[in-house]
Parts: sequence; C-alpha cells; structure tokens
Amino acid sequence: VDGQRIRYKGFWFKLEFITASEAIRAHYTPLPSDIILASFPKTGTTWLKALTSSILRHSSPLSSSSKDLDYLNPHEIVPFLEIEIFGENPSKDITEISCPSVFSTHLPLSFLPETVKTSGCRVIYITRHPADTFVSLWHLYNKFGTEISIRQAFDEFCKGLVPAGPYFEHVLEFWEARDRVMFVTYEDLKANPEETVRRIAEFLGCKIIVEKIVKECSFEKLKNTSKERGEGVHWSGTKYDMFFRKGVVGDWKNHLTQEMMKELEDLADLKWRGSGLDLNIFNRSASQ
Ligand code: A3P
Repeated sequence: VDGQRIRYKGFWFKLEFITASEAIRAHYTPLPSDIILASFPKTGTTWLKALTSSILRHSSPLSSSSKDLDYLNPHEIVPFLEIEIFGENPSKDITEISCPSVFSTHLPLSFLPETVKTSGCRVIYITRHPADTFVSLWHLYNKFGTEISIRQAFDEFCKGLVPAGPYFEHVLEFWEARDRVMFVTYEDLKANPEETVRRIAEFLGCKIIVEKIVKECSFEKLKNTSKERGEGVHWSGTKYDMFFRKGVVGDWKNHLTQEMMKELEDLADLKWRGSGLDLNIFNRSASQ
C-alpha cells in the first residue's frame, strides 16, 4: 500500500479499480462484437477513442448501430469498462449495452477476463514512449496542483508507483499478446496517421475514408470542440479539455535530462529483455 494506491498482482491501482477488475473478471464475457481500447494513462487513449468512434460512425456496415456515436466527445461515448460497469456508480448493466460495444480501459491484460483472448472481441492497445508518457502525466499532476518535484515524480514513474503502473510491465503484457491484440503507438499515429487509421479500420472490419477520420480527430479539432463544450468532467476528476495539452512527440526534451532518458532506456532494456520489445517501436514509422 502506498498512499491511496494498492499493489495488486504487480500493478498499482486505487482499491475501487481492483474491486472493479475482479467483478469484470467474474461477470464480463466479451461478445465477439465488443471492441476494447486498452492503454496506460497518457499514451493517447482519448485520441484512439475518438478515432474508433469516428471510424464506426462512418463505416458502412456498422453505421446503423453506431449512428448515435458522437466522436467529438470520446469520453462520453466510449466508457471506461472499470468505471461505467462496476465502478462506484455503475450507470449501465452489461447486458443492456447495445452492439457493438466500445470500451476503454487502463487495466493490464492480466486483469481482464481470459475470454478477452478467445471470444473474438477486438482489443486495440495504444502505447507511447515512456519519456513523453511521463511528461504528459507530470503536466496532469501539475494541473491538479500536486506538490512533487519532477525528479521525485520521475523516480516514482520508474518504480511503477503511478496509476496502472508499472508502465513497462503494462506494455509488455499487451505486447506478448500481440497476435490477438492490435498494437498501436502514439508515434505511429503522429508520423503516419492515414496508414495507422487504415490499419485500425481494417482490424475493425470497417470501410472508411481515412483522410476524413484523421481530420475529424486532429488534435486541434478535438481540443477546440472540447473547449467549446466546456464543463465536461471525466471520472478521474479531470476536465475534458485537460486531455488535450500539446499533442506532440518528443516534449520530454523540454523536461527531462539526458540522464533521466538513460534511466528509462536502461529500464526498458532490463524489463523488456528477451521479449522482442524495445524503445525502437516508438521511432519505427517516424524514420520511414
Ligand atoms: P500531451 O500531454 O503530451 O500533450 P490520454 O488520452 O491517454 O490521457 O493521453 C493524453 C495525451 O494525448 C496528451 O498528450 C494529449 O495532448 C494527447 N492527445 C489527445 N488527443 C490528441 C490528438 N488528437 N492528437 C495528438 N495528441 C493527442
């Protein structure tokens, strides 16, 4: 136990998330039509939600059942599995959710039911370079007025003492299931949005006009819409517009020292050794 969080099966969560994950494992059997968007916090979750909603809305085979999806408000139309269904104030019964159901989750793969791997549901995992993930998280801490130095926050991130942490293990679990899980990086999306969106749509079995989706879900468009709408508040207490900060790759250079970057590189080497996963996945398409 550390402050508000508890270490459970190797990951740090608030107690209610752990309870929710146990309920999900016990009661949730995904339908083949379910779509689960999984991520570590600050890796591009909101962007992936918006893109997925937009893809579903525009795709011909699914358009009738997804016509109400409002891609401009991704937090409302793509609920968090752990919060909406088994959270403190469950607002939906799992059996009442219409098809296709799209969920988002920060739970590690090992916290989800085994049937996620076998039911035919589609899981997309988005991840991001740990340095930029940390910097994004650090800015969120600041917005909440958390009084902690960047060095201390960084050390906690490296130790895994962050919501859903440790980062490296979270990514590794989904990486190891990548024959069944679609693995997307924030950097892929930034460097090559059309190609990445085309891959996502193909994975979902949707026919779409890629350019339209990319434009609809651009950083500026999502940020401005969120600003115009104003007051929406996410379950975590974060105002919707806080999910759109800078939206770039490499902001870590403005915050971390080379030594800190080296620490992250060493950790990735240590924790991902032998898995085929390394930090190069984050500059693959940027260098294409
Ligand atoms: P920064 O803080 O680096 O700007 P999450 O949704 O997982 O909380 O991730 C939030 C991060 O994704 C923030 O990163 C945010 O700015 C960025 N983001 C959100 N929408 C985006 C978009 N359409 N394009 C690029 N980045 C986006």
